[in-house]
Amino acid sequence: MPKAKILIVEDEAIVAQDIRKSVEAMGYVVCAVASSGAEAIQKAEETRPDLVLMDIVLKGDMDGVQAAGEIGARFHVPIVYLTAYDDDTILQRAKITAPYAYITKPFNDRELHIAIEVALYKHQAEAQIRKTEHRLAAVLRSVGDAVIAADREGRVTFMNPTAEKLTGWKQEDAYGKKLTEVLNIEQEELENLERHLVEKVLTEGLIINLLEDHLLVAKDGTETPISDSAAPIRDDDGETPGTVLVFRDISERKRVEALIWESEGRFRAVFERSTIGMSLTSPAGILFQINKAFADMLGYTLEELEKLNFTQFTHPDDVAKSRECMRILLADEQVVYRFEKRYFHKNGDIVWGDVSATLFCDERGTQLYFITSIVDITERKRAEKRLQETLESLRKAVGATIQVMAATVETRDPYTAGHQIRSADLARAIAAEMGLSQDKIDAIRMAGSIHDIGKISTPAEILSKPTKLSDLEFSLIKEHARQGYEILKDVESPWPLAEIVRQHHERMDGSGYPRGLKGEEIMMEARIIAVADVVEAMASHRPYRAAIGLNAALEEIARNKGTLYDVDVAAACLRLFREKGYQLQKV
Ligand SMILES: [Fe+2]
Repeated sequence: MPKAKILIVEDEAIVAQDIRKSVEAMGYVVCAVASSGAEAIQKAEETRPDLVLMDIVLKGDMDGVQAAGEIGARFHVPIVYLTAYDDDTILQRAKITAPYAYITKPFNDRELHIAIEVALYKHQAEAQIRKTEHRLAAVLRSVGDAVIAADREGRVTFMNPTAEKLTGWKQEDAYGKKLTEVLNIEQEELENLERHLVEKVLTEGLIINLLEDHLLVAKDGTETPISDSAAPIRDDDGETPGTVLVFRDISERKRVEALIWESEGRFRAVFERSTIGMSLTSPAGILFQINKAFADMLGYTLEELEKLNFTQFTHPDDVAKSRECMRILLADEQVVYRFEKRYFHKNGDIVWGDVSATLFCDERGTQLYFITSIVDITERKRAEKRLQETLESLRKAVGATIQVMAATVETRDPYTAGHQIRSADLARAIAAEMGLSQDKIDAIRMAGSIHDIGKISTPAEILSKPTKLSDLEFSLIKEHARQGYEILKDVESPWPLAEIVRQHHERMDGSGYPRGLKGEEIMMEARIIAVADVVEAMASHRPYRAAIGLNAALEEIARNKGTLYDVDVAAACLRLFREKGYQLQKV
């Protein structure tokens, strides 16, 4: 430990010298010797001593007590007074400067040594306590909770800045005031608080949590919801000199609670009043909440339906669908899963539901429950079925009409009897080979079987003419494509029969008739019938020539694919005959 530095203030030079010798002999360092009050202050400032030995009676304007007062205040240095006088008045004055020791001359070295050591120790201990107090005060100042300490009479002894802010009282104004005056809460709560502080905290020494949600009103009228607790202050002897009240601003918590309540309320209202059926189901599949719309949909009351397991009102064939839905959502494969399922109405009828389900998790990801909405689509399902039936009967009607038309044209043109039927079947086979949809295949078969219906308008003698046709005659024949369109365009049908028929003599390179369409301008249905038409015509006997033959027909298709005929259609046709063993129908 470094040696303590001592400032000696003594106006008698010889005495000062004696003291110096003694002090140095004790092992201290004398940092300066001053002979007046003013000099003492100056030396103290320059040398910053650890202790001042101060003669009370000094020459000059300032005596030792004044000098000590200033040094003590400015430099926090312990003072030991030395004086020859044992005068009460001086003693009283000296006391105010809080000396650490007071020894009267003459004194011996031992007395001086003890006085110096005690003063240094006491000063150090006090400094330590001050440091601790500062630290504690800093902690109390910085905590977010409001802290108010009160004595046994309930008078405020301390307030931290948070408490000042919430109450609107400054510590210096509140000091000594009753706690109940500073803490402006509802009268009844105040009485409660007072009673509890006296009965529980001070008397029984308990730490208590007071009621939640007091509304604290600050001086300026600001209202803050608070929750608080009170504890006894205990000193080292186990005495309870007072209480400490800790409280916090809970407005943020209240705000969040209000938000949650409001949002839950909104959800409840949506759930209960929705016109769409809704249910909440646990991850294990237990239905624990349903709404009225859902119960209504199945003809039950809420109470009745709540007692049932979902398998009791689900069509047995659709139970697996519901389980699959749960599995997908639990595995997080989809956020929302939608499917159609059948329920049983209380009266046994089937109710179709369009079901959308999602899995609700909390913020930690815990899977809580499925939220399911069910829209009754029974009516829609019925309408769809009716539409399907209507369409079916329309198809049948169109089919019958077309058969009649085909028969009519073939009656007038016996030589081509069967041409349409055979080309229609080949066209159908090509379409199937190409993987077209059933609807397109039906359209092709239908259009194929009447593709030459326009020939009704062609003079019969041209149709059955056994010799080669003139250009004029041939141009009359060509008219049949357009005529066919005119006949069919007003026939109500699910397929574009008229347009297919009009295009069945068009060619990919634009060399066909009646409009010279090219490539993509020609419907796929027409491109297929075109190929089937050519193959069938060449393979069969004609009034004006013998059959050219199937092989020649297929060569014609192979040679002109991409120019006259669609590449894919040609390829499918060749595959049918060459690989799949397709044969033209015998009629
Ligand atoms: Fe034709």
